[in-house]
Amino acid sequence: MHYEGGTMKINIVAGKLEKQKTDGAVIPIFDDEKPGPAAVRVDKALGGLIARLIKRGDFKPKPGAVHLIYPEGRILAERLVLAGLGKRSDVTLNRVRQAAGKAAQYLRTAGARDITIISDGIGLDAEETGQALAEGSVLGLYRFLKYKTNDENDRKKNIQTITLLTELASEIKAMQKGVKTGEVISESTVMARDMVSHPPADKTPTIIAAKAKELARQFGLTARVLDSKQMEKLGMGGLLGVASGSAQPPKFIIIEYRKGGSRPFISLVGKTITFDSGGISIKPAENMDKMKDDMSGGAAVLGAIRNAAALKLPLNIVGLLPATENMPGGRAYKPGDVLRTMSGQTIEILNTDAEGRLILSDALAYACKYKPAVIVDIATLTGACGIALGQEAIGMLGTDEKLKQKIRAAGEKTGERVWELPLWEEYYEQIKSDIADMKNTGGRLGGVITAAALLSKFVQKYPWVHLDIAPTAWTEKERPYTPKGATGIGVRLLTQFLRDYAASAK
Ligand code: BES
Ligand code: MN
Ligand code: ZN
Repeated sequence: MHYEGGTMKINIVAGKLEKQKTDGAVIPIFDDEKPGPAAVRVDKALGGLIARLIKRGDFKPKPGAVHLIYPEGRILAERLVLAGLGKRSDVTLNRVRQAAGKAAQYLRTAGARDITIISDGIGLDAEETGQALAEGSVLGLYRFLKYKTNDENDRKKNIQTITLLTELASEIKAMQKGVKTGEVISESTVMARDMVSHPPADKTPTIIAAKAKELARQFGLTARVLDSKQMEKLGMGGLLGVASGSAQPPKFIIIEYRKGGSRPFISLVGKTITFDSGGISIKPAENMDKMKDDMSGGAAVLGAIRNAAALKLPLNIVGLLPATENMPGGRAYKPGDVLRTMSGQTIEILNTDAEGRLILSDALAYACKYKPAVIVDIATLTGACGIALGQEAIGMLGTDEKLKQKIRAAGEKTGERVWELPLWEEYYEQIKSDIADMKNTGGRLGGVITAAALLSKFVQKYPWVHLDIAPTAWTEKERPYTPKGATGIGVRLLTQFLRDYAASAK
């Protein structure tokens, strides 16, 4: 598993666009004001074309809008893209990411190999702007070509250099810092997208465990992998129960990053079902292929820990990935079975397709062994989350107001926004069992909440947040910096949370 477009290079250069030779220049344009100085000078060279396009309404500088112009020798750039940012008063880092992603995609399609983005005059912090431009363009250009054998032309048609051009030499240092951060974070997001994009046969629990070990080697982390024998010793009946129908051996992956001195651990838990057939309660055939994305939580945790290490955050973090397939084999667990989990609590199975909460019950119990400052789990847990929130928000439930506020803030900053649902005690009625401590489904109503209610029984008194990414881990809709397919959601959110956490506890 590796990054196909890994050769892209991002430079920061001080200078004027008219002097810049490039396959494609990008000029950000605000909706409600005159174009900035660079645009005005370029416009002059083009005989007032840009002003005319805007005046006539051929180009409306709405967020995400792009317009291609061929300057035909009147400036050095081969192509020019106007990229709308909307109203200046509404500009956000997310809009900057979107504009960069859209413009980069557009110029790649047109055939550009090196592009130049005007990066001053946006009016946001220079470091954060550099980060957002790097993230937007790298993530917008993402594609997964590993299994294509007949697209050599497409593969060659790629952007290799991105130059961020500013006339403010004083901003260069900050921009460089931001670009570096943005490159690291994009690489980790691409890593997560690549993992999720792989076919299930090529990302079995064994392969994911090897990937975690490789990551640990590269970044000076420690990775330990428990096999079923060791899980049995620990009494992980939830994970083993789900794994019982699969020919692939399950793995429990523990990856630690320790650069936080005596600080308590942050426990990150990621659902890692490498394929969810539903088990004996088998899913319908339609869209079952998408259930390869059921390890997106685990991928997000690996991505976030990679970032923590690459950005040298002063923290202690443990990532826990319960990894297995959910399959209907002859030894599979069945509706009616009762599983005894590592915490000692028992769960009656009503539906083997509600397997995520079962493997998480053991992983959350394991997370408590670290006496962590906080536990955050991230999981493609329920279809009900898509019914409740659609694809524009991550479902958030948890026990700690401060922690929820930190996650919420990280969501606003990264554009991976979260929305809270309640965990009131009344909901717990729905998961009461006649013969065990609880049952694994709570019926159709409030499905996101009853799943989280079950999880909450395994986190003891530790501050905990659960993030449901079932509807957001995969997109069929092209988005400005999230092409169709695996989104890598959660990597940037968790990373921002970790960065803020490191900064606030200094
Ligand atoms: N992995 C699925 C949830 C999911 C749904 C992920 C859609 C991505 C897209 C999960 O294991 C599941 O099957 N949940 C069931 C729970 C139900 C049986 C209580 C669901 O949501 O239908
Ligand atoms: Mn399922
Ligand atoms: Zn699942």
